[in-house]
Order: sequence, then C-alpha cells, then structure tokens
Amino acid sequence: MTDRLKGKVALVTGAGTKGDGIGNGKACAILYAREGAKVVATDIDIDAAQSTAEAIRHEGGECIAAKADVSLAADCSAMIEECVANFGRIDVLHNNVGITDSGGPVEYSEAQWDRMINVNAKSVFLTAKFALPHMERQKSGSVINISSINAVRNIPFPKFAYSASKAAMIAMSREIAIQYAPVGIRSNVILVGLIKSPIVEQNNVRLYGGDLEEMWKKRDAMCPSGHQGEVWDIANTSLFLASDESRYVNGVVLPVDGGLINLVKL
Ligand SMILES: NC(=O)c1ccc[n+]([C@@H]2O[C@H](COP(=O)([O-])OP(=O)(O)OC[C@H]3O[C@@H](n4cnc5c(N)ncnc54)[C@H](O)[C@@H]3O)[C@@H](O)[C@H]2O)c1
Repeated sequence: MTDRLKGKVALVTGAGTKGDGIGNGKACAILYAREGAKVVATDIDIDAAQSTAEAIRHEGGECIAAKADVSLAADCSAMIEECVANFGRIDVLHNNVGITDSGGPVEYSEAQWDRMINVNAKSVFLTAKFALPHMERQKSGSVINISSINAVRNIPFPKFAYSASKAAMIAMSREIAIQYAPVGIRSNVILVGLIKSPIVEQNNVRLYGGDLEEMWKKRDAMCPSGHQGEVWDIANTSLFLASDESRYVNGVVLPVDGGLINLVKL
C-alpha cells in the first residue's frame, strides 16, 4: 500500500460480484481501499456489496455497502447522499455497472433496449447529476466511466443496444469533462477489452458455443498478446485515473485491451 488515494472517498457502482471470484467493480473497490480511500461499495445485490465491504474491512480498509439500482434516480441520489453523510465527501465516482446482451435491432425487444440503455447509459447521467454538486463544492473530483471496446468496434457478436449504451458513455463523459474542468472535476472513460471476469463466464459461454474452456481459448486467441486481461488491469488503470497523478488527464477515452482495438483480423 502506497496511499495513492489517502484522504479520498470513492463510490463504486456494481462493486459486488455475482458468484465466486472478483469482477471489475470489486477489484476497483478493493484496490481503492488498499491505496487509502474510504469506499462506498454499491450494488443492486446488497449481499454482493456487503461481501466486497467485508473483504475490504478484512484487509484493514474502510468501506460501507449500499443497495442501489443505478437505473433509478432515487437509488442514485440515496447512495451518493449516504456516501457524503458517512464520509463527508465524494472524490471518485466510478461508474462500473454494465449489463450485456447480444442481438441486432430485429432481435431486440423494446423492453430489452430500454433496460440496457437505462442501466448502462442513463446511470451515468443519474450518478453525475447527484455527485457533481458535491464535487463542485469540493472543487475537485474524478468521474471514471467503465465503457467497452464495443463502443467503437464490433467485437465479435452483434451487440446493438450494449454497444449503443457504451458509446453514449463516451459522449456523456466528454460533456462532463469540458463543462466541469474549470471547477477541478475530471471525467474519463476506460474502454474495457476482453477481460477474464466471473460475469463473462456466466453470460457469454452460450455465444461461444457452450464450452467454458473453449470460450477462454477463443477469447485469448483474439487478443494480440494471446491472452485476455485481468480485472486488476482495469483496477490499476482506474487507480491512476482516481489519483492526483492523473490530475491533467481529462476527457480521455482509454482502451485497456492489450492493443485489441488496433487489430484487424480478416
Ligand atoms: N469483463 C469483460 O470482458 C468486459 C468487457 C467489456 C466491458 N466490460 C465492462 O466492465 C464493467 C464491469 O464488468 P464485469 O463484467 O466485471 O461486472 P462486475 O462483476 O464488475 O459487476 C457486476 C455487478 O453489477 C451489479 N449490477 C448489475 N445491474 C445493476 C444495476 N442496475 N444497478 C447496480 N448494480 C448492478 C451486479 O449485481 C454485479 O454484482 C461493465 O460496465 C462491463 O460492461 C467488461
């Protein structure tokens, strides 16, 4: 631990992990706490959020858990107020939640589209709406938006609504970055590449033909390095964006994908 976030308060959405293992959100929450931040771990699944909070406290860190569905304004408002009530401020707003689904415009139902857009994109609006006034009062803050290389590339299945929702995050992050730069608030996007995370194991096997080991092999083979990334690759990059080391980094769209975005395979 090097105290890179000492004195800071970080709120991470989707900070629990479904099932065993550690997902991107949980890894970020754990790393932020290891670096000295007080953390609010929020999740639609309170047991998952509690489990992250317990893991952090077990390591000697400080963390509270809160239940919040990020597609709901009331939940977003409540979780940010809980953060400020408990810790006095919010320095890092880490928008990690992202649900995924495959299909094109014909396959998608209107309800699926609405859910995807509400959870992945509207949530960025709602969390910003309630967090930015506190950051403005503090005259500092870092908003970290976890998007996907799907925002800018088709990789490798049709993901019409998912890709649209992840692209919307880029535009919203840019708007926040420019509007709030004069008051010391930064907003950046991470384009997540192929990461070996528990949710991928649960959700994507079907897309790759049903065999888990085959799926990991195929995903590894798609990456220029020959292997997928780990959740800690996302956490380490997020840590940089959360810390003052990145104080002049604003409005950036940063792929963390081992170079995958640059690759054309025909
Ligand atoms: N894993 C990958 O390969 C990959 C690739 C591209 C992008 N991403 C992005 O990374 C982010 C994290 O991905 P992950 O797969 O590691 O998931 P994760 O394990 O970090 O997060 C899952 C958590 O989100 C919670 N959640 C789901 N809907 C919610 C809602 N409406 N409100 C609050 N919490 C909710 C779940 O309960 C779960 O605990 C997502 O935005 C995802 O789109 C991941």
